[in-house]
Amino acid sequence: MKILLIGATGAIGEVVYEELKNDTEIIQASRNSADYPVDITSEASIKALFEKVGEVDGIICTAGSAHFSTVDEMTPEQNMVAVNSKQLGQVNVVLIGLHYLRDNGSITLTTGVLMDDPLKTASSSAMANGGVSAFVKSAAIEMPRGIRINHVSPSMLEKSKEKYGKLFQGFQPVSSERIGLAYRKSVFGAQTGQGYKVY
Ligand SMILES: NC(=O)c1ccc[n+]([C@@H]2O[C@H](COP(=O)([O-])OP(=O)(O)OC[C@H]3O[C@@H](n4cnc5c(N)ncnc54)[C@H](OP(=O)(O)O)[C@@H]3O)[C@@H](O)[C@H]2O)c1
Repeated sequence: MKILLIGATGAIGEVVYEELKNDTEIIQASRNSADYPVDITSEASIKALFEKVGEVDGIICTAGSAHFSTVDEMTPEQNMVAVNSKQLGQVNVVLIGLHYLRDNGSITLTTGVLMDDPLKTASSSAMANGGVSAFVKSAAIEMPRGIRINHVSPSMLEKSKEKYGKLFQGFQPVSSERIGLAYRKSVFGAQTGQGYKVY
């Protein structure tokens, strides 16, 4: 099974890679990848990646940025970071990648706990998460050729505690194992249109 993992070098991407590496052939992509560079904010870049990779059985996206600041301080331009990256970037990976996905393949996007459990400064990220979640639910009923689509919504990963611990006050960090298993369920399971909440 050939899987394209976009965001492979990130904290969540590394968890997914470790979880699936023994059962699948994983192509690791990100902006700074030497072999498979891609910027999901650019349609041309996503197209170029799929042209290089060719047909796949699974697409996983663990890439996506957002600007963190309070609503009263955030500019429309800063809000566009999450729109262009986490939200439209992931949606464009689906719209373009679908044509390179084999029959009965799977797509797994990444959202996050902030859409369900608000934190100060996180509204832009929450907006993108909610958009992706709604897109997945709706797109699932139109997926052709037995293709499935889900998203994984992680809470703070244990190993990201140093980076995000101050922001995620009072949140129980979740293990790499639990998050990895949610992506495994999306790739190897039979469900579609789901959001796997790892909270
Ligand atoms: N870590 C957590 O605890 C946690 C919890 C909940 C949700 N999440 C969500 O999970 C996702 C990944 O988080 P993370 O902590 O793993 O982030 P991260 O450690 O910063 O990693 C991001 C990954 O995506 C790549 N990337 C970033 N922007 C990209 C772009 N425009 N195009 C292509 N690749 C891009 C990065 O590599 P390059 O820099 O080389 O492109 C890297 O491989 C985010 O959506 C985040 O909100 C994370």
